[in-house]
Amino acid sequence: MDRQEGAAAPYTADDDPNPDCGHPAVPTPGAPPAAVRGRLLWFRDDPFLVGTDRAVRYEPDGLLVCRDGLITYSGPYTPEAAEGLPVTDHRDRVITPGFVDAHVHSVQIGMLASYGETLLNWLQRHVYPEELRYRSRDYAETGAELFVRDLLRNGTTTALAYTSVFAHSTEAVFARAAERGMRLAAGKVLMDRDAPVGLLDPDVGTAMAATRRLIERWHRPRGGRTVYAVSPRFALACSRDMLTAAGSLWRERPDLLMQTHIAENADEVLEVRKRFPECSGYLDVYRAHGLLGRGMVLGHGVHLTDRELALCRTTRSAVAHCPTSNLFLGSGLFRLRDAKLPARPVEVALGTDVGGGTSLSLLSTMNEAYKVAALDRHAVDGFRLFHLATRAGARALRMERQVGSLAAGHEADFVVLDPRATPAMAKRVEAGDGSIGDALFTLALLGDDRAVEATYVAGRAVHRRQQKKDDPNPPRIPRGVAWSRFDWASGTWEKTSPLRNLTHRTPAAEAYAGLLYCVYAHSDDMLRSVYYRRQDDGEGEWGPVATTQTFTTTAPALAPYHDLLYCVFADKNRMVRYLTHDDDPESRWSPPEHVRGAPETGHAPAATAFADRLHVVVHDDDGRLAWLARHSEDGWADLGHLPDPEVEIRGGASIAAYAGRLYAAVVPAGGGDVLWTAYDPEEVPRPGWWPYRTIPGSAGTHTVRICHYNGLLYATGAVAPRETWWARQGADLPVWTRPAPIPEIRPDGPETGVSITPYHGLLYAFLCRDGW
Ligand code: GUN
Ligand code: ZN
Repeated sequence: MDRQEGAAAPYTADDDPNPDCGHPAVPTPGAPPAAVRGRLLWFRDDPFLVGTDRAVRYEPDGLLVCRDGLITYSGPYTPEAAEGLPVTDHRDRVITPGFVDAHVHSVQIGMLASYGETLLNWLQRHVYPEELRYRSRDYAETGAELFVRDLLRNGTTTALAYTSVFAHSTEAVFARAAERGMRLAAGKVLMDRDAPVGLLDPDVGTAMAATRRLIERWHRPRGGRTVYAVSPRFALACSRDMLTAAGSLWRERPDLLMQTHIAENADEVLEVRKRFPECSGYLDVYRAHGLLGRGMVLGHGVHLTDRELALCRTTRSAVAHCPTSNLFLGSGLFRLRDAKLPARPVEVALGTDVGGGTSLSLLSTMNEAYKVAALDRHAVDGFRLFHLATRAGARALRMERQVGSLAAGHEADFVVLDPRATPAMAKRVEAGDGSIGDALFTLALLGDDRAVEATYVAGRAVHRRQQKKDDPNPPRIPRGVAWSRFDWASGTWEKTSPLRNLTHRTPAAEAYAGLLYCVYAHSDDMLRSVYYRRQDDGEGEWGPVATTQTFTTTAPALAPYHDLLYCVFADKNRMVRYLTHDDDPESRWSPPEHVRGAPETGHAPAATAFADRLHVVVHDDDGRLAWLARHSEDGWADLGHLPDPEVEIRGGASIAAYAGRLYAAVVPAGGGDVLWTAYDPEEVPRPGWWPYRTIPGSAGTHTVRICHYNGLLYATGAVAPRETWWARQGADLPVWTRPAPIPEIRPDGPETGVSITPYHGLLYAFLCRDGW
C-alpha cells in the first residue's frame, strides 16, 4: 500500500482500475494554482472487495499541485514537482479527498436533534413544519448559506441533498454552492401526499415543470459543477403518478441523478406494502416505476431483504448508509456486511441524513458506522470507513472521474485532517503505532469538525479552522522567518527581508558570542536555529540552518546566560524545557532538559538573564505568570508569581533586564492596554514587583516583546491584522512613549509577533511573514 522506495512516480487517473461511465473532470479556469504537502491518502479500488493493499494509495510525504481547479500532480514531494509554487505545508496532517455526503436534507439544518419520535411521527411533528418555513425565500436563503458553510466546515465538498418542495429552496442551495465552485447535487423534493397541504406539490405537472426549470439552470451548466437529482421523497409521500413521472423524466434524461428513501423504518415498510399491494416489496415499488439504475441513491435501506440487496446490485442502484440517523430515530441497524457481500456487492456510501442524522460530520458518521457494524461482529477499519466517505460516495453519485480521489486529473477537492486535533486525540495518536491506518481510525472514531483543518474546493482553501482564542496550538499555515533592523543613525527601519525558513510562530532572536542567533519553530514544529555574522565591513552573512530534533508547541525564548545560549519552550506534553548552545557556532544544541518546577503550559515562556540568574516566566493554566530562576549551580528555584494574580493574562509574557531591574510586559485577557511591571531588587523597604501599569494606546495587541537597546527599554507589539507598533521608555522616567506604528514590519499568521534584540549597535526584529 505504502509508496515503495524508488517508485516515486506521480499518480494519475489512469491508475484507477474502475473508470466509471461518469462525466470527466471539469476545470475551474481562473482558480489560483496551489501546491499542498502532506500525508496523501485515497483509494483506487474498494478495500471491502480487493483488500487494503490493493485499494489504498498512500504517500507519506506527498504533494498535490492544482491548476485551474484540477489536480495536475499527485505524488511524492520534491521541490521540483512544486513547479515553483509556494508550498502549503501540512506535513503532519492527513490529506484525503473531500468527503461526499450521499444523503442529506439541506432544509433540515435547523431542526437537528428533534426529540423523542420514530420516523413517521417525527416527519409529521418536526420535519414537515420546518420544511414549511422554507416557503419564505429569506428563510431559504439563510438556511442554504448555513448548510453550505457547515458542509465545508465539516470537510464535505460534495453532497447529494434533498431540498424542500419549494423550488426557490433548491435554487438557494445551488447558488450558494456555485458561488464557492462546489460540486454539489440537489433536487427539489417531489411529494404530493400525506403531508400538510402547504408542503405538497399542487399536481404532478406543476412539480415536473418546476423540476425541469431547475434542471435547465443547474444540471451540469457549462463550466459549472452543480448536478440535478430527481427527488421523489419516498413511496409514502408520492402518488403513483408522481413516481411514474419521475421515472419517465429519468428515462428521458439518464444523466440526471435520482434519490429517494427506502426501508428506513419497520412501520414504514409495512405501510408501503399496504399501499402498493401490487408490488412484491418496498424496492419493487421503485423498480415498477423505473426508478432503479446507476445514479439512483437509496437512503437508509435498513430493512432491505437479501433479495432486495441483490436487486440493488443488479440494477447498480447505490445505498446511502445513514447510521447517526438510523440510531437517533431508532430505525434499526444497516447490514453493511451483507450489503458488501463479495459475491454481489452493493455500492454503499455514507450519508449524514441531517436532520434525522445528528451531525453533518462524516467523521462522526464513520464513528457510528463502525459501531453499527461492530454490533454485527463486523470490524470495519479506518481505510474502509474513509473509503465509504470518499470514493464510494463519488461512485454512488457517478462522479468517480471528478471527485473522491487525489489522482491527477481529478477535480481538486480535498480536506486536510489533523489527527491530533484535540488533547485526547493527540494522546491517542501518540499511543498508537504511527501508521496511517491508525491515524485514520483515530480520526474516524474521535474526530469531528475540529479535526478538519482546511477544506479545499477546486484547489482553493474555502474553509480553514479558526484558532480558538485560548487555543495554544495555532493552525500551521507555514510562513517564512523574516527580519528587519532599526538604524539608530538614520532613525529608520529597513524593509523586511525573508530568510526562507518556514515557520508559523514568532521566532526568537538574541546576540550571543559575537553572533546574532535566531531560533524558530519550523513548520514541522521542530526547533531550528540559524545565525547571522556581521563582517567588519558592516555587511553580514547567514550561517547554515541547524536542526535540534526537538519539538515545540510554542514560540521559543532565547537568553544568553553563563557562557551558554538558552532556548526555552514548551513541548508536546506542555512541559517547559530548555536547550543550550555553546559559543562554537558549528556545535550542536544540547538535548532538552526540564525546567523543574515550571507549570505545564501551551503558551510561549519568557526568559532572560538578570542578577546572575536565568529567569523564566511561564503562563500557567490559571492565567497567572509563574516566575522561576536558575542559578547554574543550584538548579531552578520557584520565585512565586508576577504581581496581581487577579489580572487575567492572555498568552505569554516578555521579560528583559534593564537599569538594574527585571521588566515584564504582558497582554491582558480583555484586549486592553498592554501591562508592564518591574522587579527592583533594591526596592525599599523590600524588593518586589511593582503593580501593573499600562502602555497607553496599545490596546488590541496580541503579542508583545521587550528588550534593552541603546540605554532605553523598547517594546514592540503586534496587532491583528498585521500591524505593529513600538514604544520606549527611559530608566529614570518610567513612562512609555506613545506607541508608533512600524509600517515596514508586518508579521503574518495568527497571533505571531515581533522579537527584538540589539546586535552590533542596531536593533534587529524577527517575525513570521507570508508572501514569498
Ligand atoms: N423519509 C421520508 N422523508 C424523510 C426525511 O426527511 N428524513 C428521513 N430520515 N426519512 C425520510
Ligand atoms: Zn433522508
